[in-house]
Amino acid sequence: MKPLSIITAMFICVIVASITFPAYAREAEAERQGKPFPPERIEELEEAREWQKPDQIMEFLDIQEGNVVADIGTGTGYFALYLSDAVGKSGLVYAEDIQQEMVDYTQEKIEEEGIKNTKVILGEPDDPKLPENSLDLALMGNVYHEVENPVALLKSIARSLKSDGSLVIIDWRSDVESEFGPSMMERVSEDAVEADAEEAGYYMVRHHPFLRYHYFLIFKKRPE
Ligand SMILES: C[S@@+](CC[C@H](N)C(=O)[O-])C[C@H]1O[C@@H](n2cnc3c(N)ncnc32)[C@H](O)[C@@H]1O
Repeated sequence: MKPLSIITAMFICVIVASITFPAYAREAEAERQGKPFPPERIEELEEAREWQKPDQIMEFLDIQEGNVVADIGTGTGYFALYLSDAVGKSGLVYAEDIQQEMVDYTQEKIEEEGIKNTKVILGEPDDPKLPENSLDLALMGNVYHEVENPVALLKSIARSLKSDGSLVIIDWRSDVESEFGPSMMERVSEDAVEADAEEAGYYMVRHHPFLRYHYFLIFKKRPE
């Protein structure tokens, strides 16, 4: 190949790459946002999760008897049950989800288990429909990567948090592969979560790095 045609070929490669890469990036973005966990796979949420270490998570959350807390994207109520134990009889848990099937499943489960301190709520993707200024803590466990408009949702949650309330985000690391959990394409990086939270009016106060496949971040609201 003559030198001129090599340069021409390289030029064409650069042009093609600059046109196709943004399209690929957009596709990846679309892939990871706004796809709630399919209810037909609901039983997977009930499988044992030795990797989740919920007791250790609860220790770090330091929830007090009588606290009011929310499990945003409760699914089958996995975290809601731990929260219910932690807040005790005088506390309250809102177990919220945007899918009717999840809400129905969790409602049935808490009734079967005789749990009295948990209210199941059907929310909307950008609005969990929780009372304003009421929560000591809001937890999003394994939900963030499914959320379509995370900043809008985090702003709604902020309105429901008390001024010193905490937002806890636990989600799948995008830098560690696992044979289970969402695809790498769907995962949201810890940096992206932190940037969204800042945009929504929070600052990060803690990062607990003991989970192998998840980041575990705690935020507070910036004073207005
Ligand atoms: C993978 S499941 C995890 C459920 C549960 N937190 C757990 O760890 O087992 C994610 C849940 O988040 C819910 N979800 C997705 N987007 C949501 C949103 N914007 N607000 C509330 N829930 C949402 C889905 O319907 C689904 O039930």
